[in-house]
Amino acid sequence: MDASKCTGCGTCMEACPVRYEVQLPETVKLARTAYAKATDEEVVADIIDRYREERGNLLPILLDINRQFNWLPRPALEHVADELGAPLTEIIRVASFYNAFSLVPRGKHIVNICLGTGCFVKGSPKLLDRLEKTLKIKHGQTTKDFLFTLEVVRCIGCCALGPALRVGADTYGRVSPEQVPEIIDSYRKSVSL
Ligand code: FES
Repeated sequence: MDASKCTGCGTCMEACPVRYEVQLPETVKLARTAYAKATDEEVVADIIDRYREERGNLLPILLDINRQFNWLPRPALEHVADELGAPLTEIIRVASFYNAFSLVPRGKHIVNICLGTGCFVKGSPKLLDRLEKTLKIKHGQTTKDFLFTLEVVRCIGCCALGPALRVGADTYGRVSPEQVPEIIDSYRKSVSL
C-alpha cells in the first residue's frame, strides 16, 4: 500500500476482510459486546431512538454506545448504519477518528491512572507500577477476564488530590501504592458480567 496516495475516503475499511476479524480474539466472548445478551440489541435501538430526530446525532449515539459497552462492537455500528441510512464506512471513519471511542474490546472497568504533572510529581508512576503488577497487564491492555482495562491519562481534573486514579466513574485521590490491590479487589467482588 502506498500511504501517500490515501485520500481518507474510507473505502478500504469497507472492503477489508480482516480489519475487524484480527481485533477480535477468542476471549472476546467475555467482553461486554453488543448482542452478546438478548437485551443488547434493544439497548442499542433505544440509544438510536433517543437521538433519532436530532441533527448531528451520530456522535452522541456512538458516545452512548461506547459508554454502554466500553467499546464500539461491529454489530452495533452496523445497526447504527442501517438505522441512520448512513454508509458503514462513514460510521467507522468517525469512530476511528476520535480517541474517545474504542474499536477493540475493553474491560468492564476502565482504570485510568493519571500521569499528568500534578500527579507525576506526587508519585503516580509508582501507582502505575503497582496497578500493572496487581492486574498482571501493562497499561493499554485488558485483563484476560475482561474485567479491567488499564489506561494512562494526563489529567482527571483533581490535581490537588494527586496522585489520583479513576475506576469507571469513581475517582480516588491521594492513593498510595499499598491501597491499589484493595481498590481493585473491591471491583472484582462486585463484578457480574
Ligand atoms: S494531573 Fe493528575 S488529576 Fe490533574
